Amino acid sequence: MSAYKIAVMPGDGIGVEVIPEGLKVLNRAIEASGAAAELETKHFEASAKRWHETGETLTDAELEELRGFDAIYFGACGDPTTPSGVLERGIILKMRFGLDHAVNMRPSKSYPGTVSPLKDPGDIDFVVIREGTEGPYTGQGGSLRTNTPQEVANEVSVNTWFGVERTVRFAFEQARARRQKLTYVHKTNVMAHAGHLWRRVVEHVAQDYPEVAVNYEHADASTIYLVTDPARYDVIVTDNLFGDILTDLAAAVTGGIGLAASGNLNVNGTGPSLFEPIHGSAPDIAGQGIADPTAAILSGALMAEQLGLDVAAKSITAAVEADLAERGSAKRSTSEVGDAIAARIG
Ligand code: IPM
Ligand code: MG
Repeated sequence: MSAYKIAVMPGDGIGVEVIPEGLKVLNRAIEASGAAAELETKHFEASAKRWHETGETLTDAELEELRGFDAIYFGACGDPTTPSGVLERGIILKMRFGLDHAVNMRPSKSYPGTVSPLKDPGDIDFVVIREGTEGPYTGQGGSLRTNTPQEVANEVSVNTWFGVERTVRFAFEQARARRQKLTYVHKTNVMAHAGHLWRRVVEHVAQDYPEVAVNYEHADASTIYLVTDPARYDVIVTDNLFGDILTDLAAAVTGGIGLAASGNLNVNGTGPSLFEPIHGSAPDIAGQGIADPTAAILSGALMAEQLGLDVAAKSITAAVEADLAERGSAKRSTSEVGDAIAARIG
């Protein structure tokens, strides 16, 4: 029997409600798959509550401890009672940077039965490969003469050939295994230094993937196409900030943020990858037991796949698809959705 060590970090808001449903489904799927495997979970408290009580977010010692796990299953980050950025920088970004989550992988798919806000969405099935450790997210910059009328603030976008290349290469691998279409998104017309580095990396890596058709879009144009013609995409690769924005839009047009899963991937095997729903802590609905756990459950499927538990991963996706097909507009609680999906497995 192999035991997979999973760090479970529900975080804040609805994260605390959806993660148990994800684990319920995951455990059921592993059992039903007949794999000689089980999950050995350990809870990590990284939340507003802890910060209020102790001033701590996620400590350096915990970050080190996380290196010994096979994967991290994360709920959500952010709370209106804390200053904006404290939890985000101290928890999720600390893990993405510290555990070298180079690739943030975010699939978007229209499932039968889900309703898109678009009148004619077409058949949406693409994946956004978002760079995860660089761009304007690193915290480079600062402010001068703060709180005076002469205040100056800089937020520097960091782009390294190394960081961009490994993300772009991962995206080409995905495209090769899918429909051989890759769209890279940037603002080369304005952010010329970073944009042209991205362009040159894409052109360089493309030489190794002659079967993949490559095209470029400015990020603002992509927001138009994601609404008018989202079915055009197969693989999108882009920087950290554009990827953040485009994946929320992608989730919205495919049937809602409640269905959007993601993996923050360490692509060189130096640490555990992290799996989380794209939605945040949703303080407006937290604590009511009404959050949709589907995105967390699908993130569990991505985690199972990454652990090599392919049968379990596929059975989760199939159970979710079957549930979505019959879901309709019925109001169900978070745990009712989890139970219904778990019951469809095996
Ligand atoms: C996401 C979130 C995060 C991000 C926040 C919580 C820091 O919006 O995962 O998309 O900006 O990356
Ligand atoms: Mg986001």
